[in-house]
Amino acid sequence: MSGPDPKVTTATLRARKGTAEKTAVVTAYDVVFARLADGAGIDVVLVGDSLGMVVQGERSTLAVTVDEIVYHSRIVSRGVKRAHLVADMPFMSYQASVEDGMRAAGRLMKEGRAEAVKVEGGLEVAELVQRLSRAGIPVMGHVGLTPQSVHQFGGFKVQGRTDDRRAQILADARAVAEAGAYAIVIEAVPQALAAEITRTIPVLTIGIGAGAECDGQVMVMHDLLGLEPAWKPRFVRRYAEMGKAAADAFAAYAADVRAGRFPGPQESFD
Ligand code: KIV
Repeated sequence: MSGPDPKVTTATLRARKGTAEKTAVVTAYDVVFARLADGAGIDVVLVGDSLGMVVQGERSTLAVTVDEIVYHSRIVSRGVKRAHLVADMPFMSYQASVEDGMRAAGRLMKEGRAEAVKVEGGLEVAELVQRLSRAGIPVMGHVGLTPQSVHQFGGFKVQGRTDDRRAQILADARAVAEAGAYAIVIEAVPQALAAEITRTIPVLTIGIGAGAECDGQVMVMHDLLGLEPAWKPRFVRRYAEMGKAAADAFAAYAADVRAGRFPGPQESFD
């Protein structure tokens, strides 16, 4: 007889490295979708700073604050039972000093109820990753197209296409792994580079636009569910058309209200 699905922890994820078991990660920003993702067997729920773009309507992730991630992470934590919960460290919560990063991470864990934090970067964040890990705060790294550097890159562009940049991303992944990260997101790089990182670095890799050879995959919930019908970049696979379904439902409701068909007797009290 099998018991309830065990809770996914950093130990679970570390143990998957080198096995054939793939890890499914998705973002969530509220309790409803967190509960749905958790109940569907998603392994890791990420409160990403993509919040800025998909929930707040910004053009980048840069405006997101620690307070906002804390708020959404705490909400998401109420919907997550089995999945491992990771919260993103927003732009400028850790770039100015390791101490800033320690305090921000502490808030995400204490107030946001996160079980780990995610930090973008490589060599330049290695000291922070080490300090956080030693303080008992598990760190997920993030290399390749790191969206907080969008203006440095000149747009959301695939990274690692030149020899220099390829070597730099590899060195970044190695530095973050050696500093103690338990997993690393690899975003928007050629699949051969992600495969090399996955083969040579003893830490779970989670790809987004990084090919099939990563140890797991992450998708932004809005992309996976088709909540923005006009947005369909190459790395996205849509598993639903919820944007269209929602628009159709709103239109049907408005038509029923205007025609006097809603509410009917069954939706009214005697
Ligand atoms: O902010 C985010 O949602 C992310 C994922 C896309 C990895 O960083």
